[in-house]
Formats: sequence, C-alpha cells, structure tokens
Amino acid sequence: MTDQAVALVVLAAGQGSRMLSDLPKVLHRLGGVPLVGHALAAGRSLDPERVIVVAGHGADAVGKAVAKLDPEAQIALQEQQLGTGHAVAQALPLLDGFEGKVVVLYGDTPFIGADTLAALVSHPADVVVLGFEAADPGRYGRLVVRGDKLDRIVEYKDADEATRAIALCNSGVMAADAGLLRDLVGRLGNENAAGEYYLTDVVGLARQEGRSAAVVTCDEAETLGINTRTELAAAEAAFQARRRDEMLENGVTMADPATVWFSLDTFIGRDAILGQNVVFGPGVTVESGAEILPFCHLEGCHVSAGATVGPFTRLRPGAELGGDVHVGNFVEIKNSVLAEGVKVGHLTYLGDAEVGERTNIGAGTVTCNYDGVGKHRTVIGAEAFIGSDTMLVAPVKVGNRAMTGSGSVITQDVPDEALGLGRARQVTKAGLAKRIMQALRAAKGKA
Ligand code: UD1
Ligand code: CA
Repeated sequence: MTDQAVALVVLAAGQGSRMLSDLPKVLHRLGGVPLVGHALAAGRSLDPERVIVVAGHGADAVGKAVAKLDPEAQIALQEQQLGTGHAVAQALPLLDGFEGKVVVLYGDTPFIGADTLAALVSHPADVVVLGFEAADPGRYGRLVVRGDKLDRIVEYKDADEATRAIALCNSGVMAADAGLLRDLVGRLGNENAAGEYYLTDVVGLARQEGRSAAVVTCDEAETLGINTRTELAAAEAAFQARRRDEMLENGVTMADPATVWFSLDTFIGRDAILGQNVVFGPGVTVESGAEILPFCHLEGCHVSAGATVGPFTRLRPGAELGGDVHVGNFVEIKNSVLAEGVKVGHLTYLGDAEVGERTNIGAGTVTCNYDGVGKHRTVIGAEAFIGSDTMLVAPVKVGNRAMTGSGSVITQDVPDEALGLGRARQVTKAGLAKRIMQALRAAKGKA
C-alpha cells in the first residue's frame, strides 16, 4: 500500500446504449448490487479520503443508488458526455484542496481486484495506467511503451496500423498525482477522431513535461467491462463462479455449488453448510456451523451459529436469528429478532416481531403486522408456546412462558404464564353428520 492519500473518481455518466434500457447502465445489478457498487467496493479497499462518482445519464437515480452504497461518496454531474477527460474534469472541483493520488475507475468495470489497485497506487510514477495483454485487442486504446516507461496512449480510432498491432491495451483505470492531473486535465483538447476529450491524453502531456508514466498490468478478466445484457449475464456467471470457489476455499460446505447464488457482500462462516438452490440477496451474514437447507431465499439477514434454516424458507431484511434457532419450511421472517433456541417449524409469517429464548411458534402462525396504513410490533416473551394457527394482531404482547390456544385471534396482550384463547367455543351435535350425509346422497340420487 501507499502512504499517500487516495481519492477515487468513478466514471459513470455514459448511457450504455447497447443495454437497450431505461435504467442507467451502472445500475444494472451484478451479484445483487448495482454495477457501480463493485467499482466502489474495489476502490474502498484503498481507504480513500474522497470518493467521487461522475454521473450524467440518469444522474438522479445513480445519485440515489450511490448514496445507499457509500453514504460518503459525492456526485459530480457531467451533463454532456464529451469524453473520459471531460468526465474527470467535472470531478475536479470536488478534489479541491486534495493532495495525493487520484485513482480513476469505470462504473461499468466490476472485476478490478484490490491487489491490482494496491499495486497501481504504490507505483512511484506520476501517472500509472492499468494495462493488460488483450487476447483480441479490438477497439481498446493501445499503450505505447519504451522499456518500462509509458510514452502515450493512442485510441484505436486514432491509431495507425503499426500501433493497432500492439496487444498491450488500456483498461481505463489510472492513478495520477492530484496536482498534475488537475493541471493536465485542464489542458486536454478534443482534436481527435472521436472529437472527445480523452483522459488517455494526460499520459503524453505528462511525458512532454518530463514527468514519469508507467504501466501496471493485470489479467484481462479483471478489466472486463459490461456493455450488453449478454455481457452482464456472462459477468454474473463469472462472479458467481468466483464467489463459489472462494466460499469452498474458506471452509463452507456446498452440496451443489452451481445452484447457490451469492451477492457481493455475502458472508458465510466456516463449517456452514449450504444446501442446493439457495439464493443470497444483499446483506446476509451466516455464522459458522449454521445450516441452510435447500431452496431458501435470504436477504438482509443474520443467521447465528448452530441455526438451521429451511428447506423453503424466506428470510427478508431485518431477520435476526439467534444461536440454535430452527426455522423450517414455508416460513417467512421480516424485521424480526428471534432469540436463542426459538423454533418456527412450519407455514408461518413473522413480521416486525421479537421472540424470546426457546419459544415455540406453532404451524400457521401469522403476525398481523399491517393494518393497511402502519406497521405494528408483536412482542413474544421467552419459553412461550404459540399454538398452531394463531393470528397475532399487532401491536400485541405475549408474556414469558405464556401460551395461546390453537386457532386463536389474539388482539389483547397475554400476561406472563397466562393462556390466551381467542376463538369460538366448540359445539358438538350428536348424529348430525350422519343425517347431513344421508340427505345429500338422497338429493343426488333424485337428480
Ligand atoms: C476508454 C479508453 C480506452 C480504453 C477503454 C477501456 C479513453 C479516451 N479511452 O475507451 O483507451 O481502452 O476505455 O474500456 O478514455 N464516461 C463518462 N463520461 C464520458 C465518457 C465516458 O462518464 O463523457 C464513462 C463511461 O460511462 C464508461 C467509461 O467512462 O464507464 C469509459 O467510457 P467509454 O466510452 O466506454 O470509453 P471507450 O471509448 O471504451
Ligand atoms: Ca467501453
């Protein structure tokens, strides 16, 4: 790592017209989060002092998404997309007073690794460009090097045949001294084949001033950019493959890794066991030794050590499962805290609830948490027993070691150690079933 301060500039103003989408390209999701979130996460590994995202197309939506991903990030508006150099120029006012290294990333390039960025910023040259040997150099900018020095970057459109024959290409990622970048970006012109302000021209300008420029190389896979839905789907497959390998290497057991889907921030502890067909949305942590049985969907939740979940469980944001909790089939849990040893075996909805230690929730229990306008809480104590098919009409409390009778609609608090019953009293009519059957059969015979 470098001892210099780092500022991050993420370029995300482009339309991404080849996505054929109303959604700005960088908001299409990969690993459960918007594409731009991947660049921000990689950049965060540099512990940046400032984070600036340059937005243009769909800037409002991009701004909102970025605020969620990184509340400290700032947005620079680029109203017209006049090139990558122009995009960086829009970020300069937000870099006022900053001294150190500016790292430029693209919002649509999700796979740049933390190690690669660390190598980039720790290189001593004034301008450092991340390059790669392209299998098919296509329309990438070409890096013209002499020895270990980078002379200039030539865009494909402006390159002659000899330059196009170079296989060393520009990824677009660049690190440069802040003062130098400010000066050079201000001097960029647009007299080139595209009529754009090229960020890549800062290399040639720096060299003319006697400043140093160099290339750090990485694997081509890291520089993969997303331009189409096909590329997005391929990137998702690559992302999942990588995450599955990481999980296995970190000591997670998976019966069929290809059917388990992770998000960028999924954390699974060692010795956790994941069954087939499990999907992790954003914000999930699963502690060591927990088991997620097949066909579960988890998002924004925490599963503690020793808990078992599924098969067929849905854990939604705010579900907090304590140690040794058991949640079974066709159970949905949202914004609810289940203390240690709670059992919710079957066919249940718990929303906006709190459940004390070792309480048992019977099959078919529903917290009626929404009255059509507001949400209300259900609080259940420790070692309570909620009878099957209990409707808990919130706000409502059930005390410690209390019970509710099966089929109850509980609208009033049940104190500690009390039984709450809220259902019609049973009536039994001797012989009536037989008489009804006979009458029905007789009617059918006549017809
Ligand atoms: C750029 C590089 C090229 C490199 C390639 C790698 C330049 C001039 N060329 O070319 O050397 O090989 O990336 O993929 O830099 N953007 C803005 N505002 C703009 C223009 C672009 O925010 O005005 C953003 C885009 O949203 C995108 C990124 O910058 O995320 C790159 O833009 P793009 O148009 O894809 O650059 P290329 O022409 O592919
Ligand atoms: Ca591109």
